[in-house]
Formats: sequence, structure tokens, C-alpha cells
Amino acid sequence: MKKILITGASGFIGSFIVEKALELGYDTYAGIRNSSSKQYLTDERIRFINLDLSDKTSLKHQLSEHRFDYIIHAAGLTKAQKKTDFEVVNFQATKNLVEALLESKCLPEKFIFVSSMAAHGPGKDSDTVPVKSSDQPHPDTLYGISKLNAEKYINSLIDFPVITLRPTGVYGPREKDYFVFFKTINGGIEPYIGLKEQYLTFIYVRDFVDVVFKAISSPITGKTYFVSDGKCYTAKEFAEITKKILNKKTVKLFVPLAIVKLIAIILETTNSWIGKVPTLNRDKYNVLKARNWLCDISDIEKDFGFKASYYLEDGVKEATDWYKAEKWL
Ligand SMILES: NC(=O)c1ccc[n+]([C@@H]2O[C@H](COP(=O)([O-])OP(=O)(O)OC[C@H]3O[C@@H](n4cnc5c(N)ncnc54)[C@H](OP(=O)(O)O)[C@@H]3O)[C@@H](O)[C@H]2O)c1
Repeated sequence: MKKILITGASGFIGSFIVEKALELGYDTYAGIRNSSSKQYLTDERIRFINLDLSDKTSLKHQLSEHRFDYIIHAAGLTKAQKKTDFEVVNFQATKNLVEALLESKCLPEKFIFVSSMAAHGPGKDSDTVPVKSSDQPHPDTLYGISKLNAEKYINSLIDFPVITLRPTGVYGPREKDYFVFFKTINGGIEPYIGLKEQYLTFIYVRDFVDVVFKAISSPITGKTYFVSDGKCYTAKEFAEITKKILNKKTVKLFVPLAIVKLIAIILETTNSWIGKVPTLNRDKYNVLKARNWLCDISDIEKDFGFKASYYLEDGVKEATDWYKAEKWL
């Protein structure tokens, strides 16, 4: 039985990767912290391993002891209280993990780095041309910069068996950020950020996990892939689909970018007093203000034979059914 380690196993995406790894018959290790929730890690076949990604020495011992065949590095910070936290977790912790693997000479057969489309940054606001992995990255968020720094480090290594995945917005059950949008629509408000049309891409969490395991079983290494369902949606289409599925009549609310920025600053400041990071913050504002989040996925179609099983209609239905069943909606 092949041994697989999933870091960030307690998170939204990580918990789905763990489930799929078990389903596929891997000896599955959930990499967590002492403080991590096990709410979605209840299967008794899961083996837990407490990882301190800031401590290379302890990582070396743990990795030498276990010698994983595959590692999926999904731990990461998508919002942070201090600007430096992004670099500490998304870049430095990734570097520690990889250095520990190299120095203890226990390289896995494949290392999947869950990066983000934010590492590249959006396409041009002035057109609807999708970004390609061969394009020069220009991240416009601290989050994206930290992910790109980790990518650059990993890709500078010779013979390190890595595949880097850059998912666009991942949504599905258990997810907490898109949930805010679903909740707003459910409450009868249809929010629009900025007055100019916005072009969006999405990947349903189960489809993203499918790409992860396709990448694991592929002989390819050393490549970076954008991951989306392959379609382009306008913000209006996203709202229309959600409204239809939730069967809600809504009032449209167009919020100019300057107001969104002001709200982001206020929320960030007031939440910092209680040690929290709000979903809408200054870094997220930069994501929301970009008009073109289109990416080219022809590489995953060609290399992995990927075709989405969920487009937005199916994914939003399954996600919102889950939110309702869990009484989130
Ligand atoms: N969701 C998206 O739309 C999206 C899009 C593109 C890329 N990604 C990437 O996908 C990965 C997973 O994201 P997610 O949406 O599942 O986020 P999430 O639900 O917030 O999960 C993040 C995971 O990372 C762990 N983590 C955070 N800081 C850590 C640290 N210092 N040491 C060890 N573990 C740490 C968390 O552990 P605790 O539970 O202990 O906090 C949690 O398991 C991230 O790398 C993210 O950048 C997500």
C-alpha cells in the first residue's frame, strides 16, 4: 500500500484530498497541527501526524521515519493578520518541508504543491484573454507573492519530482469564503463589486482533487498547471445560477471599488482588535477588483485528460445543498 501525506489536511481542500486518498486505497497520513480541527477527519483509517512546518529538524526525523511515497502540500494561509505571515507559512514552511525531504534523502515519488492562480495574478482588465502558465507572473496580492516565492524555490531545484497546481477559486461543501456570497444571495441581496463586468473562473473541490490524483499518477514532473473547470463565467452569471438554485428573488447592489476598499480597511482594522482576519480584507480587495480571472487549462486537458465533472450549476447545487443540510443556510 503506497503511503501518502497530505499537509493542511484539516482545511477545506485538504479534508477532501484525505477522503479521496482513502477511497483510492492509499495508506493515508493527515498532516495537522495540535490546534487543528478534526471535524472533517473522522474516518478511522486516517493516520494523524503532527507536523511543525517551522521546525526543519523535527520534520527531517518524521519524514525519515515514514518515507512517504507521495506528498500533497496543501497547507497554506489564504488570509493573514500580519503581512509577514504569508511569507512565513506559504513560502518558508514550504521551503522547510522540501529542504527536510532533500536533506533526509527521502524524496517522494511525487510532490504536489497546491499553489494558486494568485501566484500568477489575474489577466489584463482591458481584455478577456486567459493567462497561460508560460506567461510571466505578476501577483498583485501578498498572498500571491508568497505562493510565487514558494513556486520559484521549488522550481529552482534539479530533479525534485514536483507538480505545481494553481487552482482558481475552489468552492464546495465546508468552504467559508464563497459561502459568504451564497449567504448574501440567500438573504435577498445580489452584490456586485465594481461597476465593470468581471470574468471569473471556478473549480469544484471534487474536480480539483481529481486533478491532484491525476497529477500523482502521471509520469510528468516539473510542470505548473492552472486548474479551473475550463469555463468563463461573468459575475452576473454566477449570481444568476446561485439565485436559481436557491430559488431567491434578489435586489442588485452595485458597490463601487472605492467603497469596497474602504469597507475592507475598516473590517481589517476592527477585526484585528479581536485577533481575527475578515473574509474581506485589503489583500482580498485586490483579488476582487481584478476584472479578468480567466486561465488557460489546455495543459491539464492534454497531459492528464482532465474534464470537469462539475460546472457551476452542478457544483453550486451540491455545495448549497450541503450548507442547507448543515444549517449554514
Ligand atoms: N480555497 C481556494 O479557493 C484556494 C484557491 C487556490 C489555492 N488554494 C490553496 O489551497 C490550499 C488549501 O486551502 P483551503 O482553501 O483548504 O484553506 P483552509 O481551509 O484555510 O486550510 C488551510 C490549511 O492549512 C493549514 N495551515 C495553515 N497555516 C499552517 C501552518 N502554519 N502550519 C501548518 N499548517 C497550516 C491549516 O491548518 P489548521 O486547520 O491547523 O489551521 C489548514 O489545514 C492552500 O495552500 C491555499 O493557498 C485555495
